[in-house]
Amino acid sequence: MITVTKTFFPPIEEYTKQLERIWQNKWLTNRGELVLELEGKIKKYLDSTNILLMNNGTIPIQIALKVLGNGGEIITTPFSYVATSAAIFWENCAPVFVDIHPEYLTIDETKIESNISDKTTAILATHVFGNPCNIGAIENIAKKYNLKVIYDAAHAFGVTYNEQSIFNYGDVSTCSFHATKLFHTGEGGAIFSKDANLFHRLYYSHNFGHNGPLDFFGLGINGKISELQAAMGLAVFPYIETIIEERKKVVQFYNNNLNNNELHFLKLRENTKWNYSYYPVIFNDESVLLKVQNALTEEKIIPRRYFYPSLNTIKYINGEQMPVSESIASRILCLPLYVGLSKDELINICDIINKNLC
Ligand SMILES: Cc1ncc(COP(=O)(O)O)c(C=O)c1O
Repeated sequence: MITVTKTFFPPIEEYTKQLERIWQNKWLTNRGELVLELEGKIKKYLDSTNILLMNNGTIPIQIALKVLGNGGEIITTPFSYVATSAAIFWENCAPVFVDIHPEYLTIDETKIESNISDKTTAILATHVFGNPCNIGAIENIAKKYNLKVIYDAAHAFGVTYNEQSIFNYGDVSTCSFHATKLFHTGEGGAIFSKDANLFHRLYYSHNFGHNGPLDFFGLGINGKISELQAAMGLAVFPYIETIIEERKKVVQFYNNNLNNNELHFLKLRENTKWNYSYYPVIFNDESVLLKVQNALTEEKIIPRRYFYPSLNTIKYINGEQMPVSESIASRILCLPLYVGLSKDELINICDIINKNLC
């Protein structure tokens, strides 16, 4: 079976070597040696601002909203994974959806201002498939209206924009190291902020609010990553460049072999160094998508409707209509993309898609 992604497994000896360190240290969590080492390596690799590793990519969004959202209205995108909107509800804030750009697939910055009210406290936007939002425009709007900016950069490990790590933008950026992600720790994630005071709040918020064993800076939750997760991260880390290179080859194969008259592709924002994290294709209409999906499934090839549905249409959210996002969500399919996809498999995938386009 060919699935949309396959977790990268480092050689088991390299993983067990990391596990042996844990057994020697007799230290499983609470920011042990492996977590600190991995944090240092990632910070250096990304050339990022302050970084804190966490237990997944959702809790950092929730913590950022807890600290910056103040229970207000949050301008956000309907085209993201459900974690983005769910975090807003979970933190008792109110999502205000703004439709997306039809080609970049990120929030349409030209529609943000008309949705700002006196209750708006923050903008939470996703760098969809690792494609940066219009960061400059969002920053200007945020300054003008005194809003905070949180970027859900779950997909953006290794991306640079204007020659800066993507994680250096906004008041806060978050990332996911879930097993399906380009770099992973099984489950895991991170939060970034260049503002030292804010970073301090994020830091204590992820550790129950502790200020030493007997005192508390403020409210907190448990967002800690464990040594076991860091062991996987340390074993995967040396392969990052190989992973990105291999994925690039798959992306180039798709670019060269899919029928680009009948398909639409993600438009990367100018001045972006991308990470080849996903390969979304957009069909002319949903019926073609379903035909292609069925044909692939018959051959045991399982792409993913990602993101589907448009988040504003989820029952408990019940947001306003978002025509662009709803249209894209009904027509987009992410194709298999992982290290180890063979040329024969890729030829087969492209053949099936091209044959079923009309
Ligand atoms: C855009 C986006 N945000 C947030 C998340 C949540 O990350 P995690 O699964 O690590 O909690 C995901 C996970 O797929 C995601 O794709």
